[in-house]
Amino acid sequence: MVSITETPTDFTTLPDMSADIFTAPLQKPAHLGSDWLEPKQADYSSADHAIWDELFARQMAVLPGRAATAFIEGLDKLDLSRGGVPEFGRLSEELDRLTGWSVVPVPMLIPDHVFFWHLANRRFPAGNFIRTRETFDYIQEPDVFHDVFGHVPMLTDPTYADYMQEYGKAGWKAMKYNRLKALGALYWYTVEFGLIMEGDDVRAYGAGILSGPTEAKFAVEAESPNRIMLNVDRVMRTDYVIDDLQPTYFVIESFADLFKQTVERDFDRLYKNLPPAFTYANSAVIDVDYVVNRGTQEYLLRGGRGSGAKPV
Ligand SMILES: [Fe+2]
Repeated sequence: MVSITETPTDFTTLPDMSADIFTAPLQKPAHLGSDWLEPKQADYSSADHAIWDELFARQMAVLPGRAATAFIEGLDKLDLSRGGVPEFGRLSEELDRLTGWSVVPVPMLIPDHVFFWHLANRRFPAGNFIRTRETFDYIQEPDVFHDVFGHVPMLTDPTYADYMQEYGKAGWKAMKYNRLKALGALYWYTVEFGLIMEGDDVRAYGAGILSGPTEAKFAVEAESPNRIMLNVDRVMRTDYVIDDLQPTYFVIESFADLFKQTVERDFDRLYKNLPPAFTYANSAVIDVDYVVNRGTQEYLLRGGRGSGAKPV
């Protein structure tokens, strides 16, 4: 076991986590081991498969021209359009061949350090359950559609796949300095809500954008949100909203640039200088920003979700 005062380099077994690190109080279901993995993927009913197919069709009506090329190619490489909830074993075989990743089933959100550990081992924990008709448009916890449709195609890109592994390994340092919130913001603004430049256009590669009905158009085309070139230090100081469209999206030049910015960062120095609370509001534009588009913030100013404001 590795203590939290040093950061582990060997991730073969789950490194220890100090008791004074604050993490969400999650209750592990009794049938799971310390890896939180389900012994097998769920058996889905035909109604479940039909929900997947409808969600898939809905996203494919909006994503061409808005999703990153790497994502569209990933869907293709994994043959995700064949219909029904994909089988994790088949996906893992294909992913292993491409980038050495696998997809493993988890029942729900899992503790941060367990999540980091799986990523460090190139295993992507995916929610086992699928949403119902009642929660078709919006779910609190990530289900198999969000996790597999949104995240897994990107893992076919070799550089992005490496970034995800590095992110997992970086978790222990954030825990050591008690700055999980800051590292979480980096995940949020890249893996969940990231945009990438493709020529003169921005395209979405974040799973939170790609797996929902409204955000692809909003993130890529609407006038409300800011679009700012990603700077890791700045992003890790920026607050975010979890239950509405983002007031700001951060844009990367390329996955190679994202990888480089992250692995070359001196995180010890960054965490020592980082206050516990976020410095910047989620709609702020600051002096050092390289702004792609400065948003009107009209959607946010009109009240956002629940106010009837149009996502324009
Ligand atoms: Fe996600």
